[in-house]
Amino acid sequence: MPIAIAIDGPAASGKGTVARGVARRLGYRYLDTGAMYRAVALLAQQRGVDWTDSQALGRLARQLDLDFRWDGEYAKVLVDGHDISGAIRSQEIGWGASAVAVHPSVRSALVARQRVLADHGGVVVDGRDIGSVVLPQAELKIYLDATLDERARRRHDELRRRGIHQNLAQVRDEVAARDAQDSGRATGPLAVAPGAVRVDTTNHSIAEVIEIVAKLAKDRCP
Ligand code: DC
Repeated sequence: MPIAIAIDGPAASGKGTVARGVARRLGYRYLDTGAMYRAVALLAQQRGVDWTDSQALGRLARQLDLDFRWDGEYAKVLVDGHDISGAIRSQEIGWGASAVAVHPSVRSALVARQRVLADHGGVVVDGRDIGSVVLPQAELKIYLDATLDERARRRHDELRRRGIHQNLAQVRDEVAARDAQDSGRATGPLAVAPGAVRVDTTNHSIAEVIEIVAKLAKDRCP
């Protein structure tokens, strides 16, 4: 029987790539919850809503007309029917997502949607609070980690591939600042969920990590 797999971890730990790879390997759906926080941050910016305005952000998150459309391996993220997949991947919106994610009004609205989208098992969900808050009943919970230097290097490489040239030290500072904000908030902070298996990816390739998680998933299938 298909199970639910929760994958949490800090910024640039490889969660998205691993979650997508595991979903493909097992024939499961993949839900990228970070994209939902990013969508709220982008919409707020477009509508002139401040990332500190808890009430207005809560309203935005509740009314968000969000859709995921599969396009081969990647899901397109649509808001009000517009494809925002590229726009939400900027560094600025990454930081904005972390800022709007601090507000309980935003989290409660998005967590409720995530539970509906992840219903029925056969799903890999990645984020910060999936094993602890969104799907505490998930059959397999993974906490992906890597050293700050390694995560900064990966983010730096990813940015370079996208044509964004930033100094490695600056990327490292941004990754560290995002982790501090995501771990320090009162509601749904980044944390190792009870029962989660910690996987340190520092010295593993993506393919190896996908293999490790897929094997753990097969062992947990009833
Ligand atoms: O995984 P990501 O980089 O796309 O996430 C962007 C931000 O969204 C992250 O810094 C914190 C927030 N987030 C969250 O608070 N809870 C989640 N389940 C997923 C993301």
